[in-house]
Amino acid sequence: SPSYERYAALPKAHLHVHLEAAMREDTMRQWCGEDGVEVPPLVEFPDFTRFLDAYGLLIALLRTPERVARLLDEVVADAAAQGVVAIEFASIPDKSAAFDTAEDALEFILPTAAAAGRRHGVWTGAIVSIDRGAGPAHALEAARLAARFAGRGVVAVGLVADERGNPVAGAADAFSIAREAGLGVVPHAGELAGPEEVRSALDLGADRIQHGVRAAEDPRVVEMLASSGVCLDVCPSSNVVLGVYPSLGDHPLPALLDDGVRCSIGADDPLLFGVDVVDEYVLAHERMGISEARLAGCARASIDSSFAPAALKRDAL
Ligand code: ADE
Ligand code: ZN
Repeated sequence: SPSYERYAALPKAHLHVHLEAAMREDTMRQWCGEDGVEVPPLVEFPDFTRFLDAYGLLIALLRTPERVARLLDEVVADAAAQGVVAIEFASIPDKSAAFDTAEDALEFILPTAAAAGRRHGVWTGAIVSIDRGAGPAHALEAARLAARFAGRGVVAVGLVADERGNPVAGAADAFSIAREAGLGVVPHAGELAGPEEVRSALDLGADRIQHGVRAAEDPRVVEMLASSGVCLDVCPSSNVVLGVYPSLGDHPLPALLDDGVRCSIGADDPLLFGVDVVDEYVLAHERMGISEARLAGCARASIDSSFAPAALKRDAL
């Protein structure tokens, strides 16, 4: 549609996207066929656990380095077609069956992503996701792993999976390790849990917050976000599919922007939620009433809030 073309042409950074779930649908179907496994459910999930199960099925398809390389090439090619000049993809390297160790996974993924970036003209950075359900030892190990790859393609640590029962404060020590290595800290918070988790993420020195939208339930937390300039990496369709809000019309992104909170727009898990990052801009305009000028501001905020090099930001902004 004309609208899609318009928002695709806007230079932007995609800061909230999980690598495995950015797989193309055709590629997924091909690999499911080759492996003789069922195609995972898409777009409709009875609950968050069933969503994580579908995500696990995508990870299971990535059982050879060749598949991982194809995934990276396609994700970066798609990003280029979406006007993405910088992509920060999140991944849980210790879940990869294609490699013996998480270290091996990153040794392969980082240069392969960088090469894809050069081919397609997109800057790439990796976020090492800590699985918040996997306990404190995993969190420290993931942070130490990420730290060893600081300056070699890893730009930050993230924190993913179900917030309920696993508060962000549990990752405080892991975040310290990341920060000492010069990495960013970009946890998921304020998605399945409320504004207190966004406040907690801010207290822990988060550089950005993935989702963070439930901050809207507490004006004091909204004010903390606005005055700090910490960017929320917002994914409206994800929030609707996972039942955080009943519809896009109920989503707080317009209110957060009105209140001066910096927000980038992302697709989170494009294959599982049936949207790419450009679709999210179009929906924000058409279904959430956000003006084109304000969405251009989100695109600028995404580039400015990214971990991309200063020279790229200067050229793109
Ligand atoms: N991992 C992938 N997508 C996620 C989401 N929306 N929330 C938490 N963890 C995730
Ligand atoms: Zn996410």
